[in-house]
Amino acid sequence: MKETWVNVVSKLQNTPSYPALFKKAFSTEVIDSTLVVKAIAQFERTLISGNSRMDSYVLKKLASIDAKDSFLTVQEKRGFTLFKTENKGDCFHCHGSPYNPLWTDNEFVNNGLDATPDSGLAEITGLATDFGKFKTPSLRNLVFTAPYMHDGRFNTLEEVIDFYNSGVQSSSPNLDGNQNPRNLNIQEKADLIAFLKALTDSSFVNNPDFRP
Ligand code: HEC
Repeated sequence: MKETWVNVVSKLQNTPSYPALFKKAFSTEVIDSTLVVKAIAQFERTLISGNSRMDSYVLKKLASIDAKDSFLTVQEKRGFTLFKTENKGDCFHCHGSPYNPLWTDNEFVNNGLDATPDSGLAEITGLATDFGKFKTPSLRNLVFTAPYMHDGRFNTLEEVIDFYNSGVQSSSPNLDGNQNPRNLNIQEKADLIAFLKALTDSSFVNNPDFRP
């Protein structure tokens, strides 16, 4: 935020409500950067999204409850099947095994956006083998987070699926081995998008606790 810690700490110290809140949380009214970071980190740990229709489906499925199917439409279930089918959507290799609630493997990979990609992880490690690799993002709440990819090149989920279907650059260095041609038809593309939208957790984004 283009601020210095000295200024931040002095602003917080001089905002009437903060010293008392720090006293409550940390037993001291003296604010410093360590405590500010702890407070923010603790707040971020409360930001847990786990209430999409897909979550309800997975929880009931793992508990072997028959009513699980009522949480997803027929189309969304077809999309989920494509997501986890190796010679079709094949999204699960990177965006998490089908019942991994994070929808990411937390790895850095090159999904083949460009023949000559941005350096990605290599910018930090300096390793040629990390060139073009980016952290696999979660797929939760995608409807709120356009544009997509590290450089925001795609404005819609349709563009993302078109890329995975026919836009992967096979000559991209360090391309992940799970980026084979997908040959999805129009119906299958729409099914995948319907599935992605079932990962929307409105109760999370509308939670009044997370609003200023
Ligand atoms: C080889 C691993 C891999 C596979 C397979 C893969 N992805 Fe990704 N995905 C990634 C990576 C890495 C990124 C981030 C790339 C970047 O930031 O430039 C990404 C980004 C995305 C994004 C953008 C998310 C955002 O917030 O910007 C969406 C949506 C997405 N993938 C959906 C899918 C779908 C649907 C499939 C299956 C058709 C799929 N992915 C298959 C690795 C993969």
